[in-house]
Amino acid sequence: MSADAVFLNACRGLPTARIPVWLMRQAGRYLPAYRELRRSYDLLTMIRTPELAAQVTLQPLAEFTLDAAIIFSDILPPLEGMGLELSFVSGKGPVIGNPIERSYDIDLLAAPPATEVMAPTLEAIRLVKHELKGRGTPLIGFAGAPFTLASYAVEGGGSRSYSRVKSLMYREPSAWKRLMTKLVTVQTDYLLRQVDAGADALQVFDSFVGLALGPDDYERYVAPYNRVLFAALVEREVPVIHYSGGTGAYLETVAASGGDVLSVDWRIALDEARRRVGKQRPIQGNLDPVAMLAPWRELRAHIDMVLAKAGAEPGYIFNLGQGLLPETPLDNVKRMVDYVQRYSPAETHKQPHTRTEEGA
Ligand code: CP3
Repeated sequence: MSADAVFLNACRGLPTARIPVWLMRQAGRYLPAYRELRRSYDLLTMIRTPELAAQVTLQPLAEFTLDAAIIFSDILPPLEGMGLELSFVSGKGPVIGNPIERSYDIDLLAAPPATEVMAPTLEAIRLVKHELKGRGTPLIGFAGAPFTLASYAVEGGGSRSYSRVKSLMYREPSAWKRLMTKLVTVQTDYLLRQVDAGADALQVFDSFVGLALGPDDYERYVAPYNRVLFAALVEREVPVIHYSGGTGAYLETVAASGGDVLSVDWRIALDEARRRVGKQRPIQGNLDPVAMLAPWRELRAHIDMVLAKAGAEPGYIFNLGQGLLPETPLDNVKRMVDYVQRYSPAETHKQPHTRTEEGA
């Protein structure tokens, strides 16, 4: 079975010959080839130059036998098209130079079509699809979910308490509605245009929502917008993965807001997640990215636990619970991908995963 069939069938809950594996942030600083390119170009230049973005997308596929590629970009560049000033400050992460402070700022936000403002990424998708032709590796397009993007737009960068974005939400519900509605419009168009350009699947990243909001606020201030976004993607044939960070406490509500595949972080066990959202719902995850820094013996124990809890039901995609860290050893990625791809889920119920392995 080709990587294409393995990944896309798993996204649809169909049986596969083995478990597919890809990694969030599989293109990035842990790869020497990426670091080498980064000496010549900054992140936004790499994202805005289709040839460079395509090259970086393909870098991890040259190193590992991954079952999917993900287009190289970030969740934040669409905010620039809306009029927010984005920069990546080394050691600090993303910064918005003119964050939203009042209701009026939201009225000033533009909602231009993705073909205008995200053209380099759409072109990079076409280039990668051309390169992957005949190879059978599917390409994932992606975008940020409205809450996670709103948190950057209002906080101006990363946050611990999310106090600014939540204050706006609580104090000015009508402004919140306008902001979230604009984000849904922009992100829906961007995701659909990625499918037009050739993306075989989509992932929507709601990385921060569960770190910021409890269940009632999620239901009231976020779920209605996520439902509109995911419903608009259903018309297309491609599977949609809904990644939701830190939402184990209200996973049912998250699952009900949409997406074909639910992608969860390591703060919830996969067997519990599957029980709560229904075994027929395809699921992705959820190795702790910090386990990727551990010695192989410890890493393998973590992988075994994830695989055992994922169970033998179809509709499972191995991934991390969050992005790969820059200090991840290449050798651990290689061994992990190989180990997961050789694993037979049918065995899980009969016996613990035992396999003779040199150097273990
Ligand atoms: O997965 C992939 O390989 C595709 C590319 C991708 C990047 N960012 C590249 C990137 C994807 C899918 C993202 C998503 C993203 N970006 C998320 C959601 C997923 C997650 O990890 O939680 C978030 C919250 C962001 C915002 C972001 N971008 C932060 C907080 C940072 C700084 C922290 C860091 O890791 O440096 C970035 C920068 C960024 N995005 C890098 C890469 C490869 C590092 C770039 C560099 O300095 O070279």
